[in-house]
Amino acid sequence: MAPSVADLQPVSNGNSDAISNLKEEVKKGPSYPFYFPYFDVDEKFPPTEIFEFTDPGTRADPAKPHLLNANTTTHDISPYLGTEISGVQISQLSPEGLDELALYAAERKVLVFRDQDFKDLGPDRQIEIARHFGPIQKHPTSGNAKGYPEFHVVYRDADHDRFREYLGDDRANRTSWHSDVSYEKQTPGTTFFFILDQPEPGTGGDTLFLSQVEAYKRLSPEFQKRLEGLRALHSAVAQAEHSRKRGGPVRREPVETEHPVVRVHPVTGEKALYVNPGFTRRIVGYKAEESEYLLKFLYDHIAKGSDFQIRATYKPGTVVVWDNRLTAHSATGDFDKVVRRHAVRLTPAGGGSHCCMRKRSFPIAGRAVYLCILYDLTSGIKLWFKNKLVRSMTFRYWPQFKGITHAQLFLVSD
Ligand SMILES: [Fe+2]
Repeated sequence: MAPSVADLQPVSNGNSDAISNLKEEVKKGPSYPFYFPYFDVDEKFPPTEIFEFTDPGTRADPAKPHLLNANTTTHDISPYLGTEISGVQISQLSPEGLDELALYAAERKVLVFRDQDFKDLGPDRQIEIARHFGPIQKHPTSGNAKGYPEFHVVYRDADHDRFREYLGDDRANRTSWHSDVSYEKQTPGTTFFFILDQPEPGTGGDTLFLSQVEAYKRLSPEFQKRLEGLRALHSAVAQAEHSRKRGGPVRREPVETEHPVVRVHPVTGEKALYVNPGFTRRIVGYKAEESEYLLKFLYDHIAKGSDFQIRATYKPGTVVVWDNRLTAHSATGDFDKVVRRHAVRLTPAGGGSHCCMRKRSFPIAGRAVYLCILYDLTSGIKLWFKNKLVRSMTFRYWPQFKGITHAQLFLVSD
């Protein structure tokens, strides 16, 4: 059990005034109590539906005139990912500007926006902005805001230690690389994370990010070839069991979904590894030892890649936007246990391996037949009726179509 405020130990500098101030801060409660994590075990969601998805980044002007202006300053955090941006107010962006934001997030993987008014916009406007990037995923187990299941709340203070709850006390470190809810059929794309209460700058609570694009590029061409066409199973089961065990909600029955080990981004066409130790469980078609062997190698590879990782830092007003299809991330549990850290994620779905990147149609027998370029290296046939998917057949990798393997035909009723 986490210690109470009365049990707090002195902080390392031994400054009793600082300790008193921190205790007072904790007693005051969160700055934004509306977003205090809310758990209702009776809250239930229907299974996630499949939908057609077009990434807003595909509509963007590559010059980004509606996003970046003369007052904007940008600072790249590393060559491979991460850009810090000042002089842009996300809340003031036009639809064209939001399209360009999607493209910029895909290009730079992680954008750290400073001095945003986003946290003060109110829930409806926050959700409206995030919806521009896709239907917002409602988390099956985490804390949300009462009446607003679109919010995924991240919260820690002296009495609530999520790191300890999830990872236990038996870990040498608290790093936990993952891509958010990668078990979903249509996984998160352009993701928003806004901070409400944060540790003082330099005292911890950063988010670690890594580029799964650069991680893929570092592999030899022969190894890359071996990975292409492989699929991995991602599972929500452990997360749901954990929530049940601690008396938390399971709002939707846990799903398990296959995704390609190498994904192709729908806007940039970049290839990225798409496995993570948080939710990926095995390589489809491999025997247990083979799967463990390969996944262990890939997890080690991304975790050791300090030269394609960054830290996103937080100040009041910071909003971090990242592309969950191209990155993995981890919280850091390095800040003092008396400090409150409170943040909210909005998680628009960003398509899945069955979704179209590009679509061309032509008529056959009075119906529109679509040739569809998919996100991954599978092919198949899909039948849609009144915008609802009624039949889907997927074929594994067709080596004879190497280079254009991600083609798909499906029928659409008028
Ligand atoms: Fe996360």
